[in-house]
Order: sequence, then structure tokens, then C-alpha cells
Amino acid sequence: MITVLGATGNTGGRVAQRLAEAGVEVRGVSRRGPVQADATDREAMARAFDGAEAAYVLLPLSLFEVGYHAHQDRMGEAITEGLRAAGVPYVVALSSLGAELPSGTGFLTSLHRQEQRLATLDADLLFLRPGLFFESFLPGLEGIRATGVHHDTIDPEVRLPMVATRDIGDVAAAALRGGRDTGVREVIGQEITIPQAVAALGATYQRIPDAALQAAFLQAGLPADVTELHLEMNAFFNSDRIAWRGTDPRTPTTVEQWAQALGAPV
Ligand SMILES: NC(=O)c1ccc[n+]([C@@H]2O[C@H](COP(=O)([O-])OP(=O)(O)OC[C@H]3O[C@@H](n4cnc5c(N)ncnc54)[C@H](OP(=O)(O)O)[C@@H]3O)[C@@H](O)[C@H]2O)c1
Repeated sequence: MITVLGATGNTGGRVAQRLAEAGVEVRGVSRRGPVQADATDREAMARAFDGAEAAYVLLPLSLFEVGYHAHQDRMGEAITEGLRAAGVPYVVALSSLGAELPSGTGFLTSLHRQEQRLATLDADLLFLRPGLFFESFLPGLEGIRATGVHHDTIDPEVRLPMVATRDIGDVAAAALRGGRDTGVREVIGQEITIPQAVAALGATYQRIPDAALQAAFLQAGLPADVTELHLEMNAFFNSDRIAWRGTDPRTPTTVEQWAQALGAPV
């Protein structure tokens, strides 16, 4: 049996589907089922991982919690201690490019801390470090469709590694089913600019100043620290501090294929 945390989400859903198709018994865990457990609850995490021969884990985003990093740490500790208590021997953990850096990466800092925590386990570990998800454009899709414009603070000239989450799920499922690779695996589909990515959604891109994005996020009800973390992450993307080896096999889905499957113009 393999436990999949976040089994109703982008990557976990694909992992669970792929494993089930291969005849593997899956325990899909999230707050709303199939097996219900909250990632902040150590005992619930230990039960979720109990008896598992392997696990797929992630740190769910918690954008509306007060104190983003403190909440991420709480989940990260409960997940790690749950895995330790259950003695799960093989763990595939979703992380991110940039997780090698301890600070200055916005949201990604919590993934650095989670990699460090998980590394204390007596288990074989595979850290998946994907680029920016194509799915990260989805929360803004309604606005993009209404106005034909995507706004953000990322430099339009910067080529960023991006990936479809279904491809991340496929990489994770393959490792869990048999490869049992360990170490760090980058998961990158394409290196493209934000204007190229949003063009697949039929939109153009407009870079806006930090203050304008900050005002829009605060108006949308996002906590101040989350707004700051988004800006810090974008500044990281705009800098030469973001780095990747680029030697792991590329994933297949292009942004155009992804957008087409979404029913978006390409
Ligand atoms: N967006 C990007 O470009 C990007 C890039 C690199 C890495 N990442 C990382 O990718 C991760 C997100 O992966 P994803 O897109 O597959 O996730 P997702 O689609 O946002 O799904 C999150 C999953 O976790 C569950 N969940 C949320 N809060 C929970 C809690 N407190 N306890 C238990 N389950 C909970 C959700 O289900 P319920 O609601 O039912 O609980 C859902 O199944 C994050 O760690 C993010 O930092 C993102």
C-alpha cells in the first residue's frame, strides 16, 4: 500500500490515478478525503502513513492562514513525524527548484525547510524539484479571460523552467511503482517566458510594479506576509540566483498542449 498525501490535488491526484491504474493499493489522503486527515495533525499523519511501503508527500499551500511559514512548518513537522512514526521506508517528496536555498525565495523557503526535515528520516528519499507549474496561472484565469491580460511582477524577458503537474505526477508514480530513485530530480518541461506561457491562454502579459501587485493582493484578501512572499519569489525568479542543472529528462507536456486540454485558445 502506498499513501498519497494531497490525493485530491494537482500532483497527488495524478499520482493516485497512475498507481491505481497499475494495480497498486493506494491510500489517498487529504482534509476532504478519500481518507481524511489534516496535515497539521501528527497523530492523523502517523495513521495516514501506517503500514505504507512508500509515500508521496507534499506541503499544501496555505495562502489564507495567518503566518504562512509558521503554518507550513507545522504541517511539515507533522508530516515528517508521521512518516517517522510509521517507519515508511521510501518517500517521494514534492519540493521545488530553489529549495536548495535557505532564504530569499519567498514561498519556496518552506520547501527548503521541509527537505531538511525529511532528510532526518531513516528512509530512502526522492526530492522532486519542479519548475513553475502551468497550473499556477489557473487562479487568475477568470481575470485573464475577461481582460485578455495577465499581470505580475516577473521580468517578461526571463526564461523560467515550467512544467505541467500531470507530468510531475507521472514522474512520482514511476518512482513509487518501481524505480525507487533517490536524491534530487528536477522536473522541467520547458524553459519559456511568462509572455510565451500566457500566449497559450490567448492572453498578453503586462509587468506591473511591486506596489501595484501588493495593492491588488491585499484587496483580494490575501494576508500581508503572503503578498510579500509572492513578491520575494518573483524577485528570485528575476535574479540569477535561480539555478537548475537541466540534465534530468524533460517532461513531455508543452504549455500549448496543457492550455488546449483546458479548453483555452492557443
Ligand atoms: N505552483 C507552482 O508553480 C509550484 C512550483 C513548485 C512547487 N510547488 C509546490 O507544489 C505544492 C502543491 O502541489 P499541488 O499543486 O499538487 O497541490 P494542490 O493541487 O494545491 O493540492 C493540495 C492537496 O493537499 C490537500 N490539502 C490541503 N491542505 C491540507 C491539509 N491541511 N491537510 C491535508 N491535506 C491538505 C488538498 O486537499 P483538501 O483540500 O481536501 O485537503 C489537495 O489534495 C506546494 O508545496 C507548492 O509549494 C508549486
